[in-house]
Amino acid sequence: MSTSMSLPIKFLPFLLILFFSSSLAIPLSYNVLSFGARPDGQTDSVKSFLAAWAQACGSAEAATIYVPPGRYLLSNVVFQGQCKNNDITIRIDGTLVAPADYHVIGNAENWILFEHVSGVSINGGVLDGQGAGLWACKKSDNSNCPSGATTLRFSNSDNVVINGLASVDSQMFHIVINGCNDVKVQGVKVSAAGDSPNTDGIHVQSSSGVTILDSKIGTGDDCVSVGPGATNLWIENVACGPGHGISIGSLGKEQQEARVQNVTVTSVTFTGTQNGVRIKSWGRTSSGYARNILFQHALMNNVDNPIIIDQNYCPDNENCPGQASGVKISDVIYQDIHGTSATEVGVKLDCSSKNLCTGISLEDVKLIYKNQPAEASCTNADGSASGFVLPNSCLKT
Ligand SMILES: *[C@@H]1O[C@H](CO)[C@@H](O)[C@H](O)[C@H]1NC(C)=O
Repeated sequence: MSTSMSLPIKFLPFLLILFFSSSLAIPLSYNVLSFGARPDGQTDSVKSFLAAWAQACGSAEAATIYVPPGRYLLSNVVFQGQCKNNDITIRIDGTLVAPADYHVIGNAENWILFEHVSGVSINGGVLDGQGAGLWACKKSDNSNCPSGATTLRFSNSDNVVINGLASVDSQMFHIVINGCNDVKVQGVKVSAAGDSPNTDGIHVQSSSGVTILDSKIGTGDDCVSVGPGATNLWIENVACGPGHGISIGSLGKEQQEARVQNVTVTSVTFTGTQNGVRIKSWGRTSSGYARNILFQHALMNNVDNPIIIDQNYCPDNENCPGQASGVKISDVIYQDIHGTSATEVGVKLDCSSKNLCTGISLEDVKLIYKNQPAEASCTNADGSASGFVLPNSCLKT
């Protein structure tokens, strides 16, 4: 009965766990350096990244692609599914850099595209779109500027996770989720100049079950924009600014358009933004609608339009003047929204003369302009107010 005899028996479970985890559970890992990627910021590493992707995607088991620290120059790249497994993790400790010459990626729609994938997670990493040259071109009235590439797009994909990623200076949109189901975007940081054109932070459209959490977005356009066909969308704990706020829209650009339904925006902070929570639609005929929207627990710091519905959007007076928006907006709740407005009108509900906004609810709203209550302006908006509401509600009940 010596104690030395009991030691191996005690360790047996650990040995078994070690044995099984090494033979079964540890995923295959592909380091992009072993496929020839160069962390020098100058050699295009697309071929190496695609070779690593081919291995991970072709594997019958879960696989990891690892990008060590360093700067990796990448031109346009498409990570194409379907894959043979639905558990691929891309762990990025480095920075992916777009070519300095914006023409190289700027005529394609996307810089980094994932298409028809399932169960892909991106963990960490910095994506540097080097967009400043293109922004300057666009601002110089030069009509030969390319329209620019979205930095990261997931298209027609399921079970996607984007965690701890930073996107800086995108040419156009930073992150686009299009045609996807069940996407979690968490701990993401977006930064671009406050006057950079069309650099939306995260754009979601034609997708269901997208969650955006714990993220910080400062950019030149919408922090988050929500396009047609977005349903069951949850946005929580996002800090926005500079930027144009969190926007549903523009909707109603097309005659036939998918709906936006069941969107929750909660615990968000806006700092010096053009808008806070916004719904906007083109002032022209359309079949679209937006309903069951909850804007909750928002703090406004010096925001031009803290609460706004604009159904008369008509940039460049293009095919809309004199028309009413066909988009029907209903059941929108504004709950616990407070802080400061940078303009007199803190609540502006400018709805369609053809489709009144209905079921608009203001609950515990308090917006201040220069130490006075802000004003409210309503056009074609029906609904109710409850709790403490300042400015006084202008809704027709
Ligand atoms: C609304 O969306 C949330 C996710 O954001 C989901 O959990 C909930 O079930 C959806 N509600 C309905 C009625 O579909």
